[in-house]
Amino acid sequence: MCGIIGYTGREQVLPVLLDGLTTLEYRGYDSAGVAVVGAEGGQLRLVKRAGKLANLRDALDGRTLAGTVGLGHTRWATHGAPSDANSHPHTDESGDLAVIHNGIFENFGELKAELVASGHTFASDTDTEVVAHLIGALREAGDGDLVTAVRAALQRVEGAFALAVVDRRNPTTIVASRREAPLVLGHRDDASLLASDVAGLIAHTRDITALLDDQVAILTPGAIELLDLDGRPAEGHRYTVDWDIAAAAKQGYPHFMLKEIHEQPQAVADTLLGRVDVDGRIVVDELRGGRSVEDELRSVDKVYVVACGTSYHAGMVAKYAIEHWAGIPVEVEIASEFRYRDPILTPHTLVVAISQSGETADTIAAAVHARNQQAKVVAISNVVGSSLARAADAVLYTRAGPEIAVASTKAFTTQIVALDVLALYLAQLRGALFPDECRDHLARRAALPALIAQVLESEPAIAELARTVSAARYMMFFGRHVGLPIAMEGALKLKEISYVHAEGFAAGEMKHGPIALIDEGGPVVALVTRGHVRGKVVSNIQQVKGRGAVVLAIATEGDTEIKEHADHVVYVPEVHELLYPVLTVVPLQLLGYHIAVQLGRDVDQPRNLAKTVTVE
Ligand code: AGP
Repeated sequence: MCGIIGYTGREQVLPVLLDGLTTLEYRGYDSAGVAVVGAEGGQLRLVKRAGKLANLRDALDGRTLAGTVGLGHTRWATHGAPSDANSHPHTDESGDLAVIHNGIFENFGELKAELVASGHTFASDTDTEVVAHLIGALREAGDGDLVTAVRAALQRVEGAFALAVVDRRNPTTIVASRREAPLVLGHRDDASLLASDVAGLIAHTRDITALLDDQVAILTPGAIELLDLDGRPAEGHRYTVDWDIAAAAKQGYPHFMLKEIHEQPQAVADTLLGRVDVDGRIVVDELRGGRSVEDELRSVDKVYVVACGTSYHAGMVAKYAIEHWAGIPVEVEIASEFRYRDPILTPHTLVVAISQSGETADTIAAAVHARNQQAKVVAISNVVGSSLARAADAVLYTRAGPEIAVASTKAFTTQIVALDVLALYLAQLRGALFPDECRDHLARRAALPALIAQVLESEPAIAELARTVSAARYMMFFGRHVGLPIAMEGALKLKEISYVHAEGFAAGEMKHGPIALIDEGGPVVALVTRGHVRGKVVSNIQQVKGRGAVVLAIATEGDTEIKEHADHVVYVPEVHELLYPVLTVVPLQLLGYHIAVQLGRDVDQPRNLAKTVTVE
């Protein structure tokens, strides 16, 4: 999820770009860059730097980059670690045009091979540079028209993108397009603008057009023309926006946490993108080392999963997936405990270290400890080039985009999905799954984004329910099997943002002590979706109901019988038993959020907590 800004008009463009990037910095900040087309002679000049926007400002210090047309970009890396060379914009072979991009070009590898074979040379590891070269090559091979070349290139690329192009041969024009990644256009009498979201445009105009998938926009000062990929006239969605800038960064949501809960369908879709090849084989191309990593992973006889907090709960879900699909024993450990134990690690041990930030001190230390004991370490992280990613032998990235709220939500569901892909990958390596089975599994998972979106529709009912329990002194969550990690995650979400005490238990443990906590009206959340343990959880619901509890059941659509046992029911669509966590956590995220709002808490920045715990 990168930040994109573009302007063509009468003003000097550099200040417009830098102000826009500052507003959009929350969308990604591991590198930044600008491209400016100079009015005189149409020179194209690029300045780009790894690190935060301040590094770019330092690099620009004193340089004016005169010009009235340009593009700006802040990067959230998905391909290629953060570096000056991998920062956007990227130019084509001729150096006449520059491209910025948000998203993932799935087939960039084959396109790059084609271009290298025809003599192209590349300065970066990014998919974006490949598309810049493709546009340039198609322009040279065609009639020299930029728009025609962009349309032809976009008919070749696969994946999700929002992209914009400037060109010294067309010094007042910007060409842009999108597919499954946001891009909005701003209309003014004397200028035209584009941005990855409205926040980048509001300072200049409230007259907006949302570009639609596979449309091409041609921006010139004061005019915007839309075409479809075949060159026929097209229409976007034009509207007037009434947000202020602060609201726009949250895209109209009251808090980043709620925005990030609602981003989960896209985040999960992005994390699953490109995970199966044309032969139906699971693809985890971030695992460095090629065959040597694969051979070592094939001989793994024990897995430890190490993490903290919500990431630890994702690791608990992974245990079920890895043991079920790959048949390898798994132990899930809190990182701060693992590093002070004497775990038995050998070269055949795989340690999976999970961290959204990739900067959690205990998790990094656990990974380093494991590597020193000759274990193979694979990181699951949301930040390309993070400390944990660099400390591991290999890394599998989630593609959730920046997670701003302290309470982790979209990182959690994308971690579960990434770990599930890793479990299938290990099974494939060990011959426990055939390619056609892998293809079927990935096809089932491709439905998850739409199913998450369906669960999100229950938000109004959950908000109403939150109003009835927000005065509760405590809240209990229980579940069995994959319901247990979600019970613990639901409790963590509630306590960390509402400050209401909450605990998640194994449902079978209730009668060994916790049931003593139940008193009249005590709120209990039960994870009771369809599966081999549902009946046992129903018994646990009856036990707590018998002692006065008020029960909210998270159940499978169509399970009407559960209404005889629970006071309230939130339904999720039916999926494979091991995939329920991606869906059942969503109502609990929303419940915790709305209770915290009811209690007037600082939802995005709860007391005593930081987004990343970089100290022990
Ligand atoms: C979860 O909502 C919390 N923010 C916290 O438990 C978090 O998951 C934990 O600190 C681990 O962070 P990481 O994934 O960045 O390592």
